[in-house]
Amino acid sequence: MSDFLRHLPKAELHLHIEGSLEPELMFQLADRNGIELPYATVEEAKAAYDFKDLQGFLNLYYQGMNVLRSEQDFYDLAMDYFKRARSEGVLHIDMHFDPQAHLQRGVPLEVVMAGLLRAKQEAESQLDLSVGMIMAFLRDRPADEALHVLEQAAPYWKMLDAIGLDSAERDNPPEKFQALFARAKELGLVRVAHAGEEGPAAYITQALDLLDVQRIDHGVRCLESEDVVQRLKESQTVLTVCPLSNVSLKVVDQLDQHPLPALLEAGLKVTISSDDPAYFGGGLLENHIACVDAFGWGEDTFKWLNRNAMEEAFVSDARRAELLKRLEAA
Ligand code: ADE
Ligand code: ZN
Repeated sequence: MSDFLRHLPKAELHLHIEGSLEPELMFQLADRNGIELPYATVEEAKAAYDFKDLQGFLNLYYQGMNVLRSEQDFYDLAMDYFKRARSEGVLHIDMHFDPQAHLQRGVPLEVVMAGLLRAKQEAESQLDLSVGMIMAFLRDRPADEALHVLEQAAPYWKMLDAIGLDSAERDNPPEKFQALFARAKELGLVRVAHAGEEGPAAYITQALDLLDVQRIDHGVRCLESEDVVQRLKESQTVLTVCPLSNVSLKVVDQLDQHPLPALLEAGLKVTISSDDPAYFGGGLLENHIACVDAFGWGEDTFKWLNRNAMEEAFVSDARRAELLKRLEAA
């Protein structure tokens, strides 16, 4: 089965590129930039990745990305993940990135965008890997700041596939960002948002009603409301579910208690992603393998999950048709 899964053409719609920063690269970039890390060794860093909840993870996530300073750093970060993902049979990635987390540290938007866009172009022309760009906004920062950053990103609007909403969900409801999402809609940008990861099902409803999102990132807590499940089923809104992430951040105790089988049973349009692979124990392939172990799913289920992802991925019609064709041939 793991051989089948490795060769299965796969797509992930929920990946934070800053969360793909492996400790090995973190040490290299720290060295290159003369930055001191709070860990003496790669092993020490990995041992620290033991999280109590989302906030516990975010603290280390924002600390880790402090090594990213130059255009080359952002390029190296993205290429490192793209090559690894490609070697695991991934053909498409919709990539979140967090400009505010870099602006705050004095890293200009131009530096972030130049590095990530160069990696995307190279992945598409040389690795047979298509990449979607999701500019994410931090929900635990002021709404005004997000609006300002969106305006500042004007030179890049055309290169974005969507805007997203991430970071600490509790007490930062979607309604706080209505003006931001209205502006994005006015600009013709697609919208996605994290909702129902640590926050309640009501945040999913808010994201749909107030932010007019096309996808829900995570969304696992929809099961707490029959109405929300019904609505997601009728609209076939995609959920980007991240199994290993949910275990690491204690959204569930163990993978075999994860609501994934219930989400499938409910007729929802589910996809599988890795979220922050460097912090949660593996990339998209590892997430697939973990689901075999926990749920005993067969080949058809994994084909269905990846078909869902390819149908919704931010790609050209021609690339989508190619992805689906390769999936069906597997
Ligand atoms: N930023 C990076 N990973 C995240 C997650 N799982 N939830 C919210 N914000 C994030
Ligand atoms: Zn996420």
